[in-house]
Amino acid sequence: MAGSHNINRRDFVKLTTVAVGTVIGAAIGLPAIGYLISPALRAGGKDAWVSIGTLDKIPIGEPYAFSFTRTQVNGWERTATSYGGFVLRKSEAPEDMVILSSRCTHLGCQINWHADTQAYVCPCHDASFDINGAVIDGPPPRPLDVYTEFKVDDAGNLQIHVKEG
Ligand code: FES
Repeated sequence: MAGSHNINRRDFVKLTTVAVGTVIGAAIGLPAIGYLISPALRAGGKDAWVSIGTLDKIPIGEPYAFSFTRTQVNGWERTATSYGGFVLRKSEAPEDMVILSSRCTHLGCQINWHADTQAYVCPCHDASFDINGAVIDGPPPRPLDVYTEFKVDDAGNLQIHVKEG
C-alpha cells in the first residue's frame, strides 16, 4: 500500500512537472508565435478617413494642393502609396467644394496647377484640364477623378474617404 502510494506521488510529481512545463512553454511560446504570424493575418487599413487640411487655410476659388502617403500591410510586405489632389472651394459654405485627384487620367502622372493659365497641366504628354477637372487638351480619356466622399468635422478639418483598390 505504502509502495503504490509512493509511486502515485512520484507520478503526481512527474505529471505536475509536465503540466507546469507546458504552461510555461505556452506562456513563452504563444505570444512569440502570435507575434510572428500576426502580420500575415493583418489585412492593413483598406479604407480610411484622412485629414487633408483645415477650412481656414483653404482659399475660396483657388485650387489648394494636398498630398499624403498611406502604408498598406499585407503579410510581411509593406506598400506605401502616395495620394494627392486639389481642393477647390466654391463658396463660404463648408461643403461647397470639389476635390480632384492629381493623378492624370491618361497614364497616371502628377498634374500641377498653373495659376497663370488657370489650368492643371500634366508634364508627361502636355495634357491640360480646366479648374474643375474637365479635359481641355491632350490624350486623357476623361476628366480628373473626384474624391466624392468628404466631410468637415466640428473643428473645421476637411477629411476625405480613401479606398484602396
Ligand atoms: S500621363 Fe498625363 S497626359 Fe499622359
